[in-house]
Amino acid sequence: MCGITGYIGPRPAIEIALDTLKRLEYRGYDSAGVAFWSGDHLEVMKRAGKIQHLTELLNGVEAHGLAVSHTRWATHGIPNDPNAHPHTDENGTVAVVHNGIIENYLELRHELGARGHRFSSETDTEVLAHLIEEQLPLCESPEEAVRRALQGVRGSYAIAVMFTEHPDRVVVARHDSPLVIGLGEGENFIASDIPALLPYTRRVILLENGDLGIITRDSVRLMRLDGSPIERPPVEITWSAEAAEKGGHEHFMIKEILEQPEAVRDTLRGRLKPNGGIAFPELKLELEDWQKFRRILIVACGTAYHAGLIGKFVLERWLRRPVEVYYSSEFRYGDPILQPNTLALFISQSGETADTLAALRLCREAGYTTMGIVNVVGSSIARECDHVLYTQAGPEISVASTKAYSTQIAVLSLLGLYLSSVNGTLPMHTYTEGVKSLMQMPSLIARSLETEPQVRQIAEALYQTPLAFYLGRGVDAYVAMEGALKIKEIAYVPTQEPPAGEMKHGPLALIEPGVIAVFVSTQERTREKLLGNLKEVKARQGTVFLVTTEDDDLLPQEADYTVRIPRLPMEELSPLVSIPVLQLFAYHVARLRGCEIDQPRNLAKSVTVE
Ligand code: F6R
Repeated sequence: MCGITGYIGPRPAIEIALDTLKRLEYRGYDSAGVAFWSGDHLEVMKRAGKIQHLTELLNGVEAHGLAVSHTRWATHGIPNDPNAHPHTDENGTVAVVHNGIIENYLELRHELGARGHRFSSETDTEVLAHLIEEQLPLCESPEEAVRRALQGVRGSYAIAVMFTEHPDRVVVARHDSPLVIGLGEGENFIASDIPALLPYTRRVILLENGDLGIITRDSVRLMRLDGSPIERPPVEITWSAEAAEKGGHEHFMIKEILEQPEAVRDTLRGRLKPNGGIAFPELKLELEDWQKFRRILIVACGTAYHAGLIGKFVLERWLRRPVEVYYSSEFRYGDPILQPNTLALFISQSGETADTLAALRLCREAGYTTMGIVNVVGSSIARECDHVLYTQAGPEISVASTKAYSTQIAVLSLLGLYLSSVNGTLPMHTYTEGVKSLMQMPSLIARSLETEPQVRQIAEALYQTPLAFYLGRGVDAYVAMEGALKIKEIAYVPTQEPPAGEMKHGPLALIEPGVIAVFVSTQERTREKLLGNLKEVKARQGTVFLVTTEDDDLLPQEADYTVRIPRLPMEELSPLVSIPVLQLFAYHVARLRGCEIDQPRNLAKSVTVE
């Protein structure tokens, strides 16, 4: 996730810029840059790669009282020097750093281009510099120019802006991306996250959506984007630096679990239109290209493979075309049957998984259309695919994947709805239902996450189990597989995860007192069948933990513990609301078992070996 810092005051501004940026390194980044006041003009220096590269570039350079700095986590445009922030207009009148995604940047870029603006990067951010510069001569103050420029902008942003003509101030604004102002004596700071500021100040103002701030050495003035003045009282931060990096949480994993509503919102942003239309502005595929695919292949590993299974479920249901899902390692050596008119999807958080990359190369040789669903911009899989749809989960630091999985499902669901609409395979009302559910998804996921206190209590009762079954039918069976992987990898609990209907064909022999069975039930049509499976477990003195929808009054009667989640009109999308409960359960079990949650034994975040 991008990181912003800034300083205005008497101390060496570049030193502070570099130090505060380093304190945001844990957020992940691929390039870094700084804009500063050189004494008579605004200067920008930036570099792809580590902050160390920027430090070398800045060796001996002095800033006078003012700097804004940035670490970039690429979302639009590969990680290179021109795409690094800060961005300026052609004349270097304003410099902007930005965290977030400008949804309508292509439209804005086009309009600015028609008015004669020339761009030097592929980023969405650069349009902001040009928009502000256009407004400057028309406005009484630079803050007014920022305010007006933002009126035509859709999307999420935290921005900090510097001006050649006004070296006494930094203007900041936020909408859906965090930004804090740190208060000092005769100096002030800005940062996208509190840990950057802790060595300098613990008094901070937390900006809210729609806030704009004008920061000078001695003052902080706030207004709303409509121009009305506002006050936000400062708060005193008492967290340790380590806790602050994790947003006050004990582990990155729980932070990332709780970030899912936002991650899914960012992934849908710009693709799901307010009028219900779906678009992938980043893809260069015509309608006929989409219509020609007769078969879909999904290739991935681990959690990404589990997202692929959900993809198969939704795509087959909505598109009525065969979808095959392969483990990357099996695809390579499995002598796959290669057929024409196949769309091959490669799902990967890191974009560097060796087996998935090798499978991709095989498909390219076979002449397939290849499409990556990838989180890390500019990664190998993203670069080598014909097309790429980025999930916008932000950096995932915990080894166990959580928010990447939800965003992969969000992309697959969008793709499913889109493909079925262009092929006319879904009745209009079903399509509309799907779009409506996706629009509400961030708040529905947030409701699921509210079960945390209850899930923690259940974990306290069950954490010593020697064996956990994870059971469901249909799409719930796939979610159960992901729930099982989570508890296996971070809490080292052995698991069994057959589809529930398979229990009596063998696995049931393992049920005995002490064994737990986690049931996932979100589908009305399999509920009675699942009741039978639940009773099979109970009859052998297993313990049942049920995750079901809020309207279910059948299964809870048989369960030892029940957690209720929202009922979705479109059941195919239910994994997005059921998985948070299983992630939370795995997390709390691991915590109670004293495990190294963010770095489980024997595992690595990016598996670049076969
Ligand atoms: C599990 C987990 C792994 C990854 C797998 C693929 O929590 O993180 O199973 O999902 O190694 O990695 P990517 O998605 O980077 O290709």
